[in-house]
Amino acid sequence: MNYIGSKVKLSVFIKETICSVVSSGLDNKVFCDLFAGTGAVGRSFKKDVKKVIANDFEFFSYVLNRNYIGNSRELENKEEYIQQLNDLPLLEGFIYNNYCLGKGGFRQYFSDYNGKKIDAIRQKINEWHIKGRIGEDMYYFLLASLIESADKVANTASVYGAFLKHLKKSASKKMILEPAYFDIDGKNHDVYNKDSNELVKKIEGDILYLDPPYNTRQYGANYHLLNTIALYDTFIPKGKTGLRAYNKSKYCSKKTVATSFEELVKNADFKYIFLSYNNEGLMTAEDVKRIMNKYGKYRITTKEYQRFKADKTANRNHKADATQEYLHILVK
Ligand SMILES: C[S@@+](CC[C@H](N)C(=O)[O-])C[C@H]1O[C@@H](n2cnc3c(N)ncnc32)[C@H](O)[C@@H]1O
Repeated sequence: MNYIGSKVKLSVFIKETICSVVSSGLDNKVFCDLFAGTGAVGRSFKKDVKKVIANDFEFFSYVLNRNYIGNSRELENKEEYIQQLNDLPLLEGFIYNNYCLGKGGFRQYFSDYNGKKIDAIRQKINEWHIKGRIGEDMYYFLLASLIESADKVANTASVYGAFLKHLKKSASKKMILEPAYFDIDGKNHDVYNKDSNELVKKIEGDILYLDPPYNTRQYGANYHLLNTIALYDTFIPKGKTGLRAYNKSKYCSKKTVATSFEELVKNADFKYIFLSYNNEGLMTAEDVKRIMNKYGKYRITTKEYQRFKADKTANRNHKADATQEYLHILVK
């Protein structure tokens, strides 16, 4: 998924740095990815550590992490379930009625075909879950598969803050439900859907990886439709973009970010703390240093990184230059 702040391309740099700091090896360590997003970082550590704890306060992100991190044992007949969902007749439901042109609609987040297909699949997953035909692991595997597959055919410039006027090429394609495969390691991992600053008071471990938002763009607003597919509840979509009520993160406000960050570091029962942040963030590198320095031994590493870009159809004015990605390190 093309996610704002995704660490897919930085995961090698992050892992190499973490391994060089935590010299005693990873296999007996608990690794926590507290702002997990797509789960990219937790996934890169899953096989190497004793346990991963993954958390994010967006529900669609919980679904992804519950599957990619939380699922660690083989699920029987998963391809058969995917096939059955792909073979369903189309259905006019909440997504088709509110986020497609359909019969007189105006929001074109999905083609009519894909909106109906998402509705059909989402309702069947719910039915199987309620009737006990599938367990929790399968439920989240199928939901994660739907979120990933729907995102591939969304008619947006990459985030859901707006839809495009005309169907772009990838959005015109018929959605195919693809399995969201996860690594099988037979271990027990923990996945949460909580506010980071609340959860940190209740968990403990060895390595805490922090990747909070850098700027004022709220993830709940930018990815609202993924939450709507994941939750599949009923509400009155608001305004032109069909927004739902969404979480507001204290990490997205200049006023509250430093206090929240300090509270988090103070309450963290982890020896090693790593913070990904960039040079255009709400906190400066100096702010972070001043806070982390109070709680132990601090240092910083940096890497040049390509800025997050919306796709070309969007005609947005993102500059194509590189930014500095920081990895702040604290041994508490
Ligand atoms: C930069 S992204 C993380 C990206 C992730 N490392 C990846 O590679 O996909 C920041 C994440 O923090 C989450 N978030 C923001 N504020 C939060 C809070 N107070 N508690 C928990 N999660 C939060 C957002 O939903 C978002 O997914």
